[in-house]
Amino acid sequence: MAFALPNPLPSSLLLLLLMMACSTSAQTYRNHSLGSSLTAQDDDSSWASPNGLFSFGFRRIENGGYLLAIWFSKIPELTIVWSANGDDLAPRGSKVELTTDGQFELKDPEGKKIWGADGALSGVAYAAMLDSGNLVLATQNSVNLWESFNLPTDTILPTNTIGPNGKLVARYSETNYSVGRFQFSVQADGNLVLQARDLAADSSYPVYWSSGTVGTASEVFFNESGSIYVKALNGSILKMISESNSESTQEFYQRAILEYDGVFRHYIYPKRPNISNSKSWPSAWTLLLPIIPSNICTAVMELIGSGACGFNSYCELGEDQRPQCKCPKGYDYIDPNDVWKGCKANFIQQSCNESSSEKDLFYLHPMLNTNWPQSDYEHTNGKTEDWCRNSCLGDCFCAAAIYGFGQCWKKKSPLSNGMVDSTIGGKALIKIRKDDSTFTPSYADCKKKDRSTLILIGSVLLSSSVFFNLLLLLVAFLAVFRFDYFKPKVVQRYPVMPGMNLRSFTYEELKNATDGFTEELGHGAFATVYKGALESNRGKLVAVKKLNNIVTQGDLEFKAEVSAIGRTNHKNLVQLLGFSNEGQHRLIVYEFMSRGSLANFLFGGSRPNWYQRIQIALGTARGLLYLHEECSTQIIHCDIKPQNILLDDSLTAKISDFGLAKLLKTDQTRTTTGIRGTKGYVAPEWFRNMPVTVKVDVYSFGILLLEIIYCRKSFEADIQNEDQMILTDWVYDCYKERKLDLSLGKDEEAMSDMKRVERYVMIAIWCIQEDPSLRPAMKKVIQMMEGAVEVPVPPDPSSFISSI
Ligand SMILES: *[C@@H]1O[C@H](CO)[C@@H](O)[C@H](O)[C@H]1NC(C)=O
Ligand SMILES: *[C@@H]1O[C@H](CO)[C@@H](O)[C@H](O)[C@H]1NC(C)=O
Ligand SMILES: *[C@@H]1O[C@H](CO)[C@@H](O)[C@H](O)[C@H]1NC(C)=O
Ligand SMILES: *[C@@H]1O[C@H](CO)[C@@H](O)[C@H](O)[C@H]1NC(C)=O
Ligand SMILES: *[C@@H]1O[C@H](CO)[C@@H](O)[C@H](O)[C@H]1NC(C)=O
Ligand SMILES: *[C@@H]1O[C@H](CO)[C@@H](O)[C@H](O)[C@H]1NC(C)=O
Repeated sequence: MAFALPNPLPSSLLLLLLMMACSTSAQTYRNHSLGSSLTAQDDDSSWASPNGLFSFGFRRIENGGYLLAIWFSKIPELTIVWSANGDDLAPRGSKVELTTDGQFELKDPEGKKIWGADGALSGVAYAAMLDSGNLVLATQNSVNLWESFNLPTDTILPTNTIGPNGKLVARYSETNYSVGRFQFSVQADGNLVLQARDLAADSSYPVYWSSGTVGTASEVFFNESGSIYVKALNGSILKMISESNSESTQEFYQRAILEYDGVFRHYIYPKRPNISNSKSWPSAWTLLLPIIPSNICTAVMELIGSGACGFNSYCELGEDQRPQCKCPKGYDYIDPNDVWKGCKANFIQQSCNESSSEKDLFYLHPMLNTNWPQSDYEHTNGKTEDWCRNSCLGDCFCAAAIYGFGQCWKKKSPLSNGMVDSTIGGKALIKIRKDDSTFTPSYADCKKKDRSTLILIGSVLLSSSVFFNLLLLLVAFLAVFRFDYFKPKVVQRYPVMPGMNLRSFTYEELKNATDGFTEELGHGAFATVYKGALESNRGKLVAVKKLNNIVTQGDLEFKAEVSAIGRTNHKNLVQLLGFSNEGQHRLIVYEFMSRGSLANFLFGGSRPNWYQRIQIALGTARGLLYLHEECSTQIIHCDIKPQNILLDDSLTAKISDFGLAKLLKTDQTRTTTGIRGTKGYVAPEWFRNMPVTVKVDVYSFGILLLEIIYCRKSFEADIQNEDQMILTDWVYDCYKERKLDLSLGKDEEAMSDMKRVERYVMIAIWCIQEDPSLRPAMKKVIQMMEGAVEVPVPPDPSSFISSI
């Protein structure tokens, strides 16, 4: 025996061995006669098998009730091999009883039947837990009238047979014993099959694995030495499922289970410590090969049903060869605690309104070796990937496209049978709405929390002359050039400001790019803006601002401030690409914004799509958050208004026209001459003796948000009804009277999204509070807009307008 081992065993192990030896010998086998019962309580009372290997009784399931079950009692980890009431856990105090009239029933404390052994039980004399793990109800003559082996749940044990029409049904999850998603059954024609199940309908989907033993009635047998096979009723072996040779039932406990992931696995567990390697005992269950099917992810591929994982997810075999259900980019788990439930898109679906195609608002994210087979609704041959991409982007039904080998498949929603495997080839292109993901600033610099410099930029004083601002910006740049040009005498071809992505262009280059300054995008008193295309950058479209006159007198103080602005990099900020400073010519190069300004978009003719407006509002908010909180230097824009929000070809909002730090530093007098130009956007503290903080931008954002919601200017003089002239007043009145729908007019899209309209209006009212400290920070604004944080009822901001 173990005690005679020459190897010194750790004392704890010896103790354990001793205890086991004692408990084994202490087991008494007895027949449980009529009237015997077990109660669900904490003392773990159970009926043990004569060899002490199995127990029958109640097990308390994590945060649930009690499960009437059979388990391996000598193994530390709970290994349940049979259960009666996985779908209907029993409360504490429930009782299983072999009644005096021979019924075997589980009843709750009130006497309500939860489960019962069915069948012709007349003549039952006793119940017994057998050494094999089989619980039987037998007659006086030891004829078994009922056996748990005839009604297996998800597990079979050696000597157990699954006869014709018998089946195993997987549990719901590793620790939830309720009926699960897969089944293993011996069909009447002799075929052993694995199928996924439709839980709601309690029916099965098509077969994903079969033994192919069709023709004669058969059964599955787990023989004494641990081999599992399909055999004909006459005894001949038709198909070997799992063969165990050296690992006999003498040395190992064995079990085979259809697990909750749909895979049939055969496990062994050493009965004794491994003498040559004491570390391997006690050990976990070890898996025997083959596992069936070898790759569940690619095996389950059906016309109906979700596949191995839930809808919209994809299945990937992990390192441990177990399937993992994951969500593609743009999707989240419906229930993070139950990943098999599938995934849902975390963005608003593409509108199918042809006249307001949202094609530009989506992009396709490529996933190599991924497929969602069987959810195609279109298939085209001999096309390019570009064609395939465009076709999916322009099609509101298309949730994803698969492109490979010149073929394009379009997939509809919900995506099913998702799988990733190196054998798949080609790629999946999953469609995601732009702007829904959070940004990642590309400059590490912009994450530091160093707030040493506060830069106020803006054109409050001169808001009507945008180009004067440009001029000042240029002055700033000149200062920097001078500084940089004096030191190294070598003129680089593309000198770049340190730490910045700004490029220096030659005048010729920009002249060529703009085709000799022909296509004018706009002009002001000090500058003209031209459209251009950079040959050196594969025809990238740019906006080139050409300053007419140059007022010099640079100031080196600008350098730090300008470089702070030059370092900003965020997808919701218009990017400064470079400049030219040659002789008399002063030019600034920006990225080109094909859709013009938000002002044109909102107020120019037909009402833009509600969801596009939501995205623009969110984009603007994110851009502001970046300026306020994500950069090493806090930047206050000071002039947020629709004219300063530009839109690129996918309608991404980009904040522009910032970069005028010096203006506020040198000239602290805040005259009111320029304020009219941006009347309605300016926070009240500008007119009071109060410090100007980032909250002035929050105020302006509040006004902008209302304009975006209502597609009208904050002040409209030619409206008949005087109450409606000032948007903020009118909206607050409507909000107070709970009549927000009236102010929406004919905006049906917004009307059908009233909850959001109301939320956004409340956020806007918070933003326009007269008291800056009441206004939320942009981070909070975004959280409220995204619905992550509740919006409290806002107070009346009314006094603000009278103060102007
Ligand atoms: C097991 O899963 C089912 C199906 O999701 C659920 O209804 C049940 O509450 C779960 N049981 C436990 C004990 O968590
Ligand atoms: C259990 O009951 C059966 C039938 O009466 C009998 O043959 C068997 O010996 C009993 N076993 C024990 C251990 O009492
Ligand atoms: C179990 O089946 C295997 C494979 O057919 C066979 O080699 C072995 O002898 C069988 N064991 C018993 C006890 O019948
Ligand atoms: C058992 O049945 C199978 C299939 O019907 C047949 O091929 C085989 O010869 C039979 N074996 C015996 C021993 O009768
Ligand atoms: C016991 O452990 C040794 C060394 O780890 C190993 O080679 C051997 O196969 C093990 N024996 C059994 C029966 O698991
Ligand atoms: C479709 O979009 C157009 C243009 O944006 C709009 O006028 C029309 O009302 C929309 N139709 C529906 C059914 O939403």
